[in-house]
Amino acid sequence: MAQTTTNNFSTDTPQVTPPSQEHTPPTHAGVSGGEAATLIDGKATAAAIKAEIKAAVAAMAATGHRAPHLAAILVGHDGGSETYVANKVRACAECGFRSTLLRFEDTISEAELLREVARLNADPEVDGFIVQLPLPRHIDEQHVIEAIDPRKDVDGFHPVNVGRMAVGLPAFVSATPKGILELLRRYGVHTSGSKCVILGRSNIVGRPMAQLMSSKQGGDATVCVCHSHSSQLADECRTADIIIAAIGRPAFLKADMVKPGAVIIDVGTTRVPDASRPRGFRLQGDVDFEAVAPIASMITPVPGGVGPMTICMLMQNTLAAARREYYA
Ligand code: GUN
Repeated sequence: MAQTTTNNFSTDTPQVTPPSQEHTPPTHAGVSGGEAATLIDGKATAAAIKAEIKAAVAAMAATGHRAPHLAAILVGHDGGSETYVANKVRACAECGFRSTLLRFEDTISEAELLREVARLNADPEVDGFIVQLPLPRHIDEQHVIEAIDPRKDVDGFHPVNVGRMAVGLPAFVSATPKGILELLRRYGVHTSGSKCVILGRSNIVGRPMAQLMSSKQGGDATVCVCHSHSSQLADECRTADIIIAAIGRPAFLKADMVKPGAVIIDVGTTRVPDASRPRGFRLQGDVDFEAVAPIASMITPVPGGVGPMTICMLMQNTLAAARREYYA
């Protein structure tokens, strides 16, 4: 039996005004003029977007529409997953959504989990749901992802949504790349015609990021995807106006791999041991922040950069699901 938690309360969120000036990353090295990099504040931007979502929910309520409802399935007790899911449930409350958390022990069989997915697919009270990854080894993640009704796949992981996004059809888009594009837009980064290097080719971040950054309606940039077997990785990075680091290696991107004035987006969140912290670890991004920040024109911190935007885009996707925006 699942342990279930539901909420339908809401809280106020602060406002933020990100810089409105259009920012064009330099197209050649050595033009940053030694100015301090602008810190891209994902936490404040996410708070502003959540306030927009909350206002949209209030407008729906005024026309007799019930609150959007997100369900989350959490299997096992992985520390990172527990934190992510708790943050998603909290974000639902902040946006005025209803949320339901379904918890299962890591002994659940694939067949049982697939039955839960089928139940949520059929529940008219649930607009969208996620199955938090990773799943225990005995469960085939792809089977589970493909069992989710694409109309409720607010993670945007189902091949139907991945394919629709790839050909420019309305679709749920994976929250991390969607959030990064939104951050670049809200900070006025001029992406069209720029050179963007993406480090990492995961299904959740690298691949959809490349689609979004290269598409005309998205970043309209020239994109290069590098990964663990790329031979010219550092050289490619040095030519980039925008680097999106999602390779999962702590402090991987060093100062000598970055063109002065480049915009740096850090997706990494590795827990590294740190005895000075109450929990005994800290989150380390894929960027050597201290060394790279003085060279970059803009940079995201870890934490407080991409992470809050990911959760906020999940909320946007859930709102879209409740409004039936992408599928009739
Ligand atoms: N595990 C790490 N990131 C994610 C995410 O965005 N969605 C889900 N479902 N699991 C994750």
